[in-house]
Amino acid sequence: MNQETKSNSSDSTPGFGGLRVAAFESRMAAEVATMIERRGGIAIIAPAMREVPLEDNHAALDFADRLLAGESEFGVVIFMTGVGTRALFQAMETRHPRASIATALAAIATVARGPKAIRAMRDLGVEPSIVAPEPNTWREVLSTLASQIELKGKRVAIQEYGVSNHELTAGLEARGARVTIVPVYKWTLPADRAPLRAALNAIAAGAADVAIFTSSNQVTNVIQLAEAEGIGDGVKRGFARMAVGSIGPVCSEQIRAYGLRVDFEPEHSKLGHLVKAAAAQAASILIANRADTHRIEAGATPNPRRPAISNAPQSPLAGHPMLKACRREAAPYTPIWLMRQAGRYMPEYRRVRERHGFLEMCRRPELAAEVTVTAVERLKVDAAIIFADILLPLIPMEVGLHFEKGDGPVIDRPIRTEADLERMPAVDVAALGFVGDAIKLVHRAIGATTPLIGFAGAPFTLASYLIEGGSSRQYQATKTFMYMQPETWHRLMERLARITADYLKMQIEAGADIVQIFDSWVGSLGPDDYRRFVLPHTASVIAAIPADVPVIHFGTVTGNLLELMREAGGDVIGLDWRVDLADAWARLNYSVAVQGNLDPIALFADVSEIRARARAILDQAGGRPGHIFNLGHGILPDTPVDHVIALVDAVHEMSAR
Ligand code: CP3
Repeated sequence: MNQETKSNSSDSTPGFGGLRVAAFESRMAAEVATMIERRGGIAIIAPAMREVPLEDNHAALDFADRLLAGESEFGVVIFMTGVGTRALFQAMETRHPRASIATALAAIATVARGPKAIRAMRDLGVEPSIVAPEPNTWREVLSTLASQIELKGKRVAIQEYGVSNHELTAGLEARGARVTIVPVYKWTLPADRAPLRAALNAIAAGAADVAIFTSSNQVTNVIQLAEAEGIGDGVKRGFARMAVGSIGPVCSEQIRAYGLRVDFEPEHSKLGHLVKAAAAQAASILIANRADTHRIEAGATPNPRRPAISNAPQSPLAGHPMLKACRREAAPYTPIWLMRQAGRYMPEYRRVRERHGFLEMCRRPELAAEVTVTAVERLKVDAAIIFADILLPLIPMEVGLHFEKGDGPVIDRPIRTEADLERMPAVDVAALGFVGDAIKLVHRAIGATTPLIGFAGAPFTLASYLIEGGSSRQYQATKTFMYMQPETWHRLMERLARITADYLKMQIEAGADIVQIFDSWVGSLGPDDYRRFVLPHTASVIAAIPADVPVIHFGTVTGNLLELMREAGGDVIGLDWRVDLADAWARLNYSVAVQGNLDPIALFADVSEIRARARAILDQAGGRPGHIFNLGHGILPDTPVDHVIALVDAVHEMSAR
């Protein structure tokens, strides 16, 4: 008798009946998946932790050596958490006596983020010299520290809590500090966080039904990561609508400590019993919980703008193949749209353009809406992208943006120095209200049937135009600025990130169903520079987007950056044609959807070659849910329209399932 029949006949539990079950177990991940699937569930496996032996805390040991080396190079140490502070000491004490550590710390500024850190520090013989006030977030740490100490030129060490706090680091660097991260943890997040991130997004989006926790550390990591990603509230709301199970009382206590409810514990604290209990009880728990949360939501006036997390599945477009692909759900065919689908290659576009300047077309909602809709109707693509430009936010920055015929964009007064940045006026995205108005018009025309993509440039790509004064090949001015004026760079990027987030949220309010972030030129950077100078800022834009609006994160020449781009965020990663789609997706562990990646020049070949190349890309995607067909970059101006139409038809026909 095989395993399956044995387990089915050994008990008469009803089974999950297709419920989506999220499990956070790491060591036994494969076994849990099998148990869930055997009982008829869809497993969402999201390992949430990894054990780190103390003596492997190289960063902590290195920090201790540097701290105790005569004249310490550190001016400030920030202790973020109680548990982390204790673990840091334990690691350091494997090499140095506690008294020497305490003496070294007494000679410099020590910051406690909150009461638990204060208690741990005092227990270990260190009196904090600065205490961040409530609510003890990174903002209070940064503002208190900056108000008491001149940070310029100081080296600041941050005892880190599993999840990096990019904002704190960027904020310190913007004030001239140099930052050393000292990660210490007995339990940390897994090296590959993508499956966990994907699970958190699914939970926030209402796309998971059951959660099972098998240790209290998992609970901490799950909530911490959700908060670091800016979706803490969405994830908690998601759990409230799910059936939540815990392996035993300690784990349950931790779940409740985060204000969440525990619905069931197994008879015995064993994995198999937990999955069995989940299968037996989930359906009835869900009925009860969902009735409750509906009542609560109805009374509590949810976010009036986008109450949507729980509403998303009811939106008329939720079942559209484009949105399904963004959520990595199976769709009847592979959706396709094309970057620059409304552009100069199209005669309808050129006819409008003959009579109006490019910026004028962007500024007049009826013209922008017309070319947006024409492209969709002519090509029969599966999404509209609003006709606009990533450079529009430069208009209210008053840098003298204009488009020269044939030369592309020109910025008359580029940003090259701190003084230039100071001069730049604060931007209110209301000045870009015409984009919102165009979105509303498109929404009214085709919104019931076609998802609409809003978009913006990512902070790096916008900065490159602002600094270079236009398009560039080498990004020499941009990169020199970044290397030589890192503080001003971070301040510029913070401002661009804020404007971009506000601009995208405005587009979403107006009716955009999806947003794409164009980091077209970020491939000019190596991974270290990306991580340090770009990732925190792009991450802060993406974190600001409501969890139920899919984000497409696109760049070109990013073969060396894909994992880092995924870390910055996005439900879909855009691929150009320089990577093999199958390789790239595997490298991303299939934890995100992918978009791409036909070479735009392929559209100049004949139709049979176009079809063969489209087929090759579909084969690389292998019918796996979560592929959006697109070019690797925008359609070029001389592209034959009938070839574009042939591509769209070919993809629909060849991918039909
Ligand atoms: O995709 C679409 O159909 C929506 C419209 C759209 C435009 N620009 C219209 C446009 C989108 C998504 C963009 C994004 C954009 N704009 C990017 C990122 C995408 C990419 O290509 O990497 C960038 C870097 C820009 C900046 C920009 N705008 C440049 C460099 C140029 C000149 C070069 C060119 O292709 O003409 C533009 C002008 C522009 N933006 C045109 C269009 C249709 C052509 C303007 C014209 O008609 O003269």
